[in-house]
Amino acid sequence: MDFDEHAADYLATVRRSVAFSGQDGAFFAQVKADVIVELTAGILGHPSELAALDVGCGVGLLTGLVAPAFRAISGSDVSAKSLALAAEQVPSAEFRAGSGTALPFADDSFDVVYAVCVFHHVEMGDREALAREMARVARPGGLVMILEHNPWNPLARWVVSRCPLDRDARLLSAGVAETLLRRASLRPVARRYVALLPLGAGWARGVERTLAGLPLGAQYAVAAVKGKPA
Ligand SMILES: C[S@@+](CC[C@H](N)C(=O)[O-])C[C@H]1O[C@@H](n2cnc3c(N)ncnc32)[C@H](O)[C@@H]1O
Repeated sequence: MDFDEHAADYLATVRRSVAFSGQDGAFFAQVKADVIVELTAGILGHPSELAALDVGCGVGLLTGLVAPAFRAISGSDVSAKSLALAAEQVPSAEFRAGSGTALPFADDSFDVVYAVCVFHHVEMGDREALAREMARVARPGGLVMILEHNPWNPLARWVVSRCPLDRDARLLSAGVAETLLRRASLRPVARRYVALLPLGAGWARGVERTLAGLPLGAQYAVAAVKGKPA
């Protein structure tokens, strides 16, 4: 999928794809931003002291939502047109163009490296290289996270099947994502399912938290730590 072609209408396309739920794309993006910040806080401590990299950041939707929680944030994507829009949306972030399989950053650069809904667009044969690159640019002791659609959730599969942006999508389960992280010499430490109920009310978020260990939510996050040098 060439996201340059879809950069201008990306947000509107996402909004149309999830409209049946009664929520817009911003709601689901916020759910994902929240889980990135919560996992970071729980595993590494205060995000406000940490630098993060958004791999496959697209038009910067997640970058902008996550940015206020972190000391610094950067984004990278193969789509130059998406990055131009991201730079307008999130002027505080640094954006660099490049493939996730050859990230344009030095080794050990970030405390947190995450990719949201990127792996399902990447050829099977390139997925290990992408995970290895994410591991390379994370600092020892840093966190690498993959957030994806949960293929066990029928609504997630239905949305993906209707979304024009997902014509090339090949979904991966949380278990497969963890295997990719392990093969990149990372140690998985958390798995959380989110976006089960399209409701913002506090009680709904409470139910989600209680059920986060079961493969029910439409999305999941897996987190892994990069081993410290001996
Ligand atoms: C569905 S969009 C997700 C964008 C953003 N992460 C979000 O959640 O709003 C997928 C993004 O992954 C990017 N992408 C796909 N393959 C990539 C690769 N090999 N390296 C870097 N980015 C890639 C696309 O250009 C696109 O911007």
